[in-house]
Amino acid sequence: MIIAVDGPAASGKGTLAAGLARHYGLPHLDTGLLYRAVGWAVRDLGDGPEFEARAIVAARALDAGHLKDIETLTSAEAGVFASRVAVIAEVRLAMRQYQRDFAHQPGGAVLDGRDIGTVVCPDADAKLFIVADSKARMERRARQLEARGQVVDRYALYHQIEERDARDMANPHGGFYQAEDAHLLDTTRLDIEAALRAAVAIVDEAVARKAEL
Ligand code: CDP
Repeated sequence: MIIAVDGPAASGKGTLAAGLARHYGLPHLDTGLLYRAVGWAVRDLGDGPEFEARAIVAARALDAGHLKDIETLTSAEAGVFASRVAVIAEVRLAMRQYQRDFAHQPGGAVLDGRDIGTVVCPDADAKLFIVADSKARMERRARQLEARGQVVDRYALYHQIEERDARDMANPHGGFYQAEDAHLLDTTRLDIEAALRAAVAIVDEAVARKAEL
């Protein structure tokens, strides 16, 4: 079974995808980490052709070994670099097969990101599109970072998330919208347990409906 979980920054999709993976006993890939690792690899290159060329090289060379420094990769700063490399078509293309291979391993997988249900796995068995309002998303991300001992400037974080949302929405190479057959889940007023219960109900129903066809 392949489950696609998409949505904007800090919408709760990562936590939900991890919860779904545990619930169904499936492996989980946070595809944002791939973009974060590539973005982080070229963080010192400023703007321009060098940035783009090196990002493409980094994307082609990416493997699981580059995804280990979770604390650095999940920082707000790495998120901004991720959204900058994510607009490069060759970067997206270089990482597509890696994501598809992960999804199509025996038994399937849960993948979360921005374009899983639209581009990476249009054939997924269940697709969820997770949303939450901007303030709730900022507050969740702030608490996540604070729980790791980081000092958070909420004003700056809010703007980083908005900047990333704006760049993601304008990405000409991304399928950053809700797939036609995806189920919308608004987690603004749901805690983690309630959101996971709702997500499991959606997946169970999608799978049951597919079995009827
Ligand atoms: O967890 P959060 O939503 O903050 O970020 P993420 O999922 O780690 O993604 C970081 C950035 O990578 C996003 O803002 C996108 O620009 C990019 N991304 C993408 O282009 N396609 C994906 N499938 C996943 C992430």
